[in-house]
Amino acid sequence: MSQANGKQQAGKPVIDIRKITKVYQMGEMKLTVLRGISLQIYKGEFLSIMGPSGSGKSTLMNILGALDQPTSGEYYLDGVDVSKMSDNELARIRNKKIGFVFQNFNLLKRTEALRQVELPLLYGGVRNRTARARQALEAVGLGHRLDHLPSELSGGQQQRVAIARAIVTQPAVILADEPTGNLDSRSGTEVMQIFQRLNREKNITTVFVTHDPWIARHTNRVIMLRDGKIVADQRVKQPLNAGEAERPSEAEELQGIFEATYFGGSKEEYN
Ligand SMILES: Nc1ncnc2c1ncn2[C@@H]1O[C@H](COP(=O)(O)OP(=O)(O)OP(=O)(O)O)[C@@H](O)[C@H]1O
Ligand SMILES: [Mg+2]
Repeated sequence: MSQANGKQQAGKPVIDIRKITKVYQMGEMKLTVLRGISLQIYKGEFLSIMGPSGSGKSTLMNILGALDQPTSGEYYLDGVDVSKMSDNELARIRNKKIGFVFQNFNLLKRTEALRQVELPLLYGGVRNRTARARQALEAVGLGHRLDHLPSELSGGQQQRVAIARAIVTQPAVILADEPTGNLDSRSGTEVMQIFQRLNREKNITTVFVTHDPWIARHTNRVIMLRDGKIVADQRVKQPLNAGEAERPSEAEELQGIFEATYFGGSKEEYN
């Protein structure tokens, strides 16, 4: 990774997609799910993707994560053109450059936290695996739970193990598809605090799918998808600090995200 430190907007984006489409062939029918998406995400950004169910968020995340190829368009990940790579090449780039966090944690049931986090390092043939896994678990506040199985951890803690597993390879970007979706609000806040800290202190580029406008307001930039297109792309002027602000009523929350997304938060424009 050759980028300079800091949240520069100049230079090369970590993620650069251009006119991506995704079409599924369903028997005779063609189902177009992504309709020409272009998006640049720079080092240190913390971005959330929102949009109604079926709008293409997970499809887009799978392409960003090199789990799936677009039907057309280009994708440069950390400067490398991945849109024409073979499955083997994709698997390699995925292991090196991407950290995934899923809604349902995707942990191995009978594996202790420390081993769980070591796993991605095995594929890369990395040395000092145990020490690095321990460091990653310490970074998410789980240095005291190394020997625990998933069943011996709370939901929030399990998700933190998954985050440790995602960061242990020092990926260029973390992709998280509704990582707080299965958590109660306290554990959700805990997990948001971790993501925010990793983003702010280690400048880890993070892309987040969420249905929750309150969660989205903790990130720096919000993309709205509708029918496979980006219909809004806004900076969040003053991202909230996880665990500090009170969650407002649902109406206020939606109002806030509406303003932030469509009007950049300045009141005059919609009064
Ligand atoms: N493998 C597939 N084959 C055919 N159609 C698919 C496939 N995967 C997704 N789709 C369709 O693509 C559309 C977008 O799906 P996607 O999972 O990306 O939505 P989403 O925005 O993540 O929704 P949600 O918020 O419910 O998770 C849906 O209409 C879905 O039925
Ligand atoms: Mg989805």
